[in-house]
Amino acid sequence: MQQFIQKHLLDFKAYEPGLSISEIKGKYGLGKIIKMASNENPLGVSPCVLQVLNKYSAYSFRYPQSGNLSLRKELANFLKVPEKNIIVGNGSDEIIDILIRLLVDPEKDEILTFKPCFSIYKTQAKLQKIRIKQVSLNEDFSFNFDKLSQSITSNTKLIFITNPDNPSGYAVKKDILKEFIENLPQGCFLVLDEAYIDFADPLEDYSFINEFLLYPQVIFLRTFSKLFGLAGLRLGYAVANEDIADYFWRVRLPFSVNILAEKAGIAALKDSFFYSKTREVVLQGREYLSSALKKMGCEVFPSQANFILFKPPYEANELFNLLLQRGIIIRTLSSYGLNDFLRVSVGTEDENNFFLQVLKEILNV
Ligand SMILES: Cc1ncc(COP(=O)(O)O)c(C=O)c1O
Repeated sequence: MQQFIQKHLLDFKAYEPGLSISEIKGKYGLGKIIKMASNENPLGVSPCVLQVLNKYSAYSFRYPQSGNLSLRKELANFLKVPEKNIIVGNGSDEIIDILIRLLVDPEKDEILTFKPCFSIYKTQAKLQKIRIKQVSLNEDFSFNFDKLSQSITSNTKLIFITNPDNPSGYAVKKDILKEFIENLPQGCFLVLDEAYIDFADPLEDYSFINEFLLYPQVIFLRTFSKLFGLAGLRLGYAVANEDIADYFWRVRLPFSVNILAEKAGIAALKDSFFYSKTREVVLQGREYLSSALKKMGCEVFPSQANFILFKPPYEANELFNLLLQRGIIIRTLSSYGLNDFLRVSVGTEDENNFFLQVLKEILNV
């Protein structure tokens, strides 16, 4: 039946997610598994959110509210921006997909990203037969804005910048970003993917979503999957120019954010204790893991996210497999073209210690 698939999709490669706990349990017959692979919240789900989920699961037979008005209202309150500028989707993945389809014409436009970048930008562009141009990151994974600016042409319709970046954790301060944005040509839009911005420290040096009105060409993209601990419910949001938001709502499938995700999102925004606790655990854990990895001879890259990129003094894939056999799942980065590197998500104190202890044994240091 292959001959019926569109030609440009014949070599399409599915997104490569981090391995799941159940896969590894089955494969190695292990009791205890820790997953530090997908940058999820080490504290799990907020107890307030769990209560709400219990309460509303009985409403699962109902359709969710079209347009997710209550969630938008709560987000508007949380972000201090008008409701009309807020969009929400089934994970920020869905928002990325829709923005590409909404803004980019496969006949003449192209997308510009850094290389490597979060793979969903590339897969969803390919799905739409859209050309994608990539500008290499600097060797230390920092952003080369001169090269990026020089690569913009009259065909460049959409640029993706991930800040803090995945998989490096590198983040650029807001003043540098603003300068880049101020020089964008008219009709060229920037998706500023801030999936990990809540972990940047100090936050005010990096986040300027409150100034979004000054930057109508920017779509500030965020998610509930990381700091808010709702990856499994699939909930993302963005703040955008009013017209873009309006068209987003016209084309988004009416019920893509389900009823439990909506209620959970509202509860998560109200739980400021869980927000602060998560930030505290991640920021401390990040510092602790980074310095311990350095002491073991790893090259560690500074991170403003809830994960750490490192180059071990050992063959990366082999190290990954040895950790796996001991029940620790981290992330290889061959899908990003980074064969010598590994990425570990910050875990709880116990998880971090277990990971470091096993790593120490393997590296024999
Ligand atoms: C940079 C970046 N953007 C977007 C996403 C997608 O997040 P969501 O779970 O909201 O679809 C991820 C998930 O890992 C990510 O790393």
